[in-house]
Amino acid sequence: MNLRQLLTGLSTFGLMALATACNSSATHVGRLRCEYLENPMGLGERRPRLSWELNSDERGQRQAAYRVVVASSKEKLARGQGDLWDSGRVESAETTQVEYAGKELGSRQGVYWTVTSWDQDGRVAKAQMPGMWEMGLLDGQEWGGKWIGAGKDALVAPAPMLRREFEARGKVTNARAYVTGVGYYELHLNGKKVGDHVLDPGYTRFDKRVLYATYDVTEQVKRGKNAVGVMLGTGWYEVHTLAVWNFEQAPWRGAPAARVRLEVEYADGGKDVVVSDEGWKLGSGPIVYDSIYGGEFYDARLEKKGWDEAGYDDSGWKGASVMEGPKGTLVAPDMRPIRVTAVVTPKSVKEVKPGVFVVDMGRNFAGVPELRVTGPAGATVKMRCGERLGADSGLHQDEIDVYVKKRGADQAFQEARYTLKGDGTEVWSPRFSYMGFQYVEVTGFPGRPTVENFRGLVMHSDVESVGRFRCSNPVLNWIDDAARAAYLSNLHSIPTDCPTREKNGWTGDAHLAAEMAMYHFDPLPLYAKWMNDFDDAQGAAGDLPGIIPSGGWGYGKQIGPAWDTAYFHIPWYVYLYYGDTRMLERHYPRLAKYVDYVTANREKDGTVSFGLGDWAPYEAQTPFPLTSTAYYYRDLVILSEAAKVLGKGEDARKYKDMAEGVKVAFIKRFFDDKNETYANGTQTALSCALYQGLVPAGHEGAVFANLVKAVEAKKNHLDCGILGTKYLLNVLLDHGRADLAYAVVAQTDLPSWGYWMKEKGATTLYESWKDVDSRNHIMFGDVSAWFFRALAGIRPDEKRPGFRHVLIRPQVVGDLTEAAGEVHTVRGVISSSWKRVGDRVEMEVKLPANVTASVWVPGEAAAREVGSGTYRITGVAK
Ligand code: BGC
Repeated sequence: MNLRQLLTGLSTFGLMALATACNSSATHVGRLRCEYLENPMGLGERRPRLSWELNSDERGQRQAAYRVVVASSKEKLARGQGDLWDSGRVESAETTQVEYAGKELGSRQGVYWTVTSWDQDGRVAKAQMPGMWEMGLLDGQEWGGKWIGAGKDALVAPAPMLRREFEARGKVTNARAYVTGVGYYELHLNGKKVGDHVLDPGYTRFDKRVLYATYDVTEQVKRGKNAVGVMLGTGWYEVHTLAVWNFEQAPWRGAPAARVRLEVEYADGGKDVVVSDEGWKLGSGPIVYDSIYGGEFYDARLEKKGWDEAGYDDSGWKGASVMEGPKGTLVAPDMRPIRVTAVVTPKSVKEVKPGVFVVDMGRNFAGVPELRVTGPAGATVKMRCGERLGADSGLHQDEIDVYVKKRGADQAFQEARYTLKGDGTEVWSPRFSYMGFQYVEVTGFPGRPTVENFRGLVMHSDVESVGRFRCSNPVLNWIDDAARAAYLSNLHSIPTDCPTREKNGWTGDAHLAAEMAMYHFDPLPLYAKWMNDFDDAQGAAGDLPGIIPSGGWGYGKQIGPAWDTAYFHIPWYVYLYYGDTRMLERHYPRLAKYVDYVTANREKDGTVSFGLGDWAPYEAQTPFPLTSTAYYYRDLVILSEAAKVLGKGEDARKYKDMAEGVKVAFIKRFFDDKNETYANGTQTALSCALYQGLVPAGHEGAVFANLVKAVEAKKNHLDCGILGTKYLLNVLLDHGRADLAYAVVAQTDLPSWGYWMKEKGATTLYESWKDVDSRNHIMFGDVSAWFFRALAGIRPDEKRPGFRHVLIRPQVVGDLTEAAGEVHTVRGVISSSWKRVGDRVEMEVKLPANVTASVWVPGEAAAREVGSGTYRITGVAK
């Protein structure tokens, strides 16, 4: 396989980059986005930022100036009339973070925009396709209507259904549905589900913030009689089964409730509004049980056929109850929803005991099983979902079901039950729950099931895939794929630890995976939302719970800096990878408050003795005060840097001084200068000190030599938990031993990622090296960011963040003969690949217009400074 094939084989991005390069010599402007979203509908951000990309196959091409024109209608935009905003010509190379600075935008405002860009040769390029966005409802008061549901007694009631009919009195020119329902809702209009969101709204602290969706329903509302309906599920709002970390006691708990506002505009300029209120009807539906952990039971005999269509006889239905509803403010999500993103066809169905079948989906993922069945009314098919099989080949849930022993036999965990109506082929999948699984145990199936009877629906926040890595070693390619699968399995409006046992927003797991996410996906809008959840979660003292959202568990000193640092690291990575400063700006006061909390609770000597440490280690245990203190130090450094970026000079100095103080304390407490080691000398302890910058000047070489010895002592294996694993690979890379890091990464015996591949047939990353816990965790996933950083050699430059300038420094190591990485960054597609030919290395680098790079060619000591374009360079393999 040649280089080109390696790259283009990666993904469509490879093809896209090539297509762009071959296009023509002029600069093209494309990928117009608002708040990192393409043409968002129902935006909540009042000061949205715009971005675009420049494509050119010319070397060193850049933008000299831009002009953004923003209009209130397509027609005005076409006439070049920027009635909302016209930036005028701005001399700037900026193509991202351009903040809308026009007339104040009100609710529902439709916005159309375009951009003109001048390149350095004075040539003009206008966006090929204009962009648009539409504002949501910006003020809770505008909603009108009320929360409605089945009333207070409905705590564990079957999922209520709500409906009403309305008349559209003229030709409909525009219609919007603003809707939410807690825990989960499904909106129906005239016989059909509206939109393609699933498990909506996203998870928040419902007593602080409730997300709603905006749908364009112009096509669905018709002149004359219409019917609107909502089905409700319990989700995270109403956790009524035993839950890890006490969600059954969450302060926001309440019976499911819906809030709807439907606006219909007519050709004659008139408008009608339908809101949720006591005028709606309430019925019970076919969902007889639903629970975020338990699953969902559905009795098709209880379906109310036609309930969401006009003319349905709802005389047997009651009036809907007006509910207090969640206390949180209604806000627009400003991120992509959860969707069904793929359909999995099972590999096999085996009968493991008479009448007990096990479906193997062939891969582990988050989502739901879909059943296709024919049989008699009343027959119930039970589908229990899990990640592993026991010795008897039957489904085994012990590692993921915390309450397996406490739970009554009648209580479900990751279970879907379907009772047939006996009406031909029936196809069903759960709506209001999701599971993590590869296997489905099926009982009660009428007849003998085959693979045709099942499918897997993959569900996660529908982030865009922006990067791919490939190389000549299949173990590494497998790791990369498994990391991607684990990341997506753990992305459901918040980043989670696992899609099974907890489904919680564990902060430590998330910051460790954030960089791999930025190379592979486009997680910024979701992280922006999740950082708001941090705001909502922060305790009065400044402390943070380890899971966010939290129903009250995890505050105080139990979790500590190594997890809480997500609040610092994620905005900081967003700054590095996107050049975005807003997140730092918005959360700055709360970051300062958190630092105050730790400072108030630290030891007299300035170190920190609380919190979780290097979690899920292999054998060596590292004292947790070491990693806690190091993160406290790092938080102060980030805060100081953030202060600098935000122009707060005094704060920058203050936090830098504080950080220096912590460094002194850290060294005093943990550094053994005689033996040039830290604490008990584990790989984690040594690499932590090096990674975080906590080694006294002059000792780095000796400490690093000890780290190398510690790795060699394990026959080039790591011996770390989740924290150390990230430090180790990066420290080896940054100290010139990428070869040793590669040896560690390429192992296939314990402990290594390859062990999961080779010995376990895994398709996702696991929670523990020895495979004793969950089989779908992302917390060991930073290795796939390391592939980009080290092997493709693509890194953002801290000094010119957001890939304005890139550092390209691929490592030609071990038995690797080729490697290629490609990332669609906020400024366009950047790729780097190389191939060994004898002792030569053929390297190819591609940079979009407006991006510069320092390129280290293998065998050359100094970097070459280049501008945009494609470069094929030959280097020397060591
Ligand atoms: C979660 C982890 C988490 C850890 C911290 C576990 O139960 O699954 O991913 O970070 O707890 O205590």
